[in-house]
Amino acid sequence: MKKMCVIAVVAASLFSLSSYAADGQAVYNKSCMFCHASGVGGAPRAHDEAAWKSLMDKGMPALLKSVKEGKGNMPANAMCSSCSEDDFKASIDFMAKKKS
Ligand code: HEC
Repeated sequence: MKKMCVIAVVAASLFSLSSYAADGQAVYNKSCMFCHASGVGGAPRAHDEAAWKSLMDKGMPALLKSVKEGKGNMPANAMCSSCSEDDFKASIDFMAKKKS
């Protein structure tokens, strides 16, 4: 019985470790897709290379600032209060990339 518990704890910590690493696609699916898939309210569409190229030219710090403070129809923190800066960065990288 005790052994089972140990295994469960190890499995749980492994799981939380893997979900801790910022996964751009996961963050996108959870928090950004709602607007960025269709371009709601003028949002640059995910994987629209031309649109994201000019955004990436502004530099990641400027884009992170827009996400954290909000911009136009995008609310501050992009409706993801639990997202870290790494989560935002990873999801921006994901949207800026061509769909694989
Ligand atoms: C409620 C809808 C909505 C959600 C959710 C949303 N966005 Fe946006 N986003 C927008 C809109 C609208 C714009 C265009 C803002 C403008 O230029 O006026 C935008 C623009 C941006 C920009 C460009 C900012 C700039 O400086 O031009 C980035 C980067 C961005 N979003 C990232 C994200 C990320 C990352 C997420 C998920 C964590 C996310 N957005 C979730 C609506 C949304």
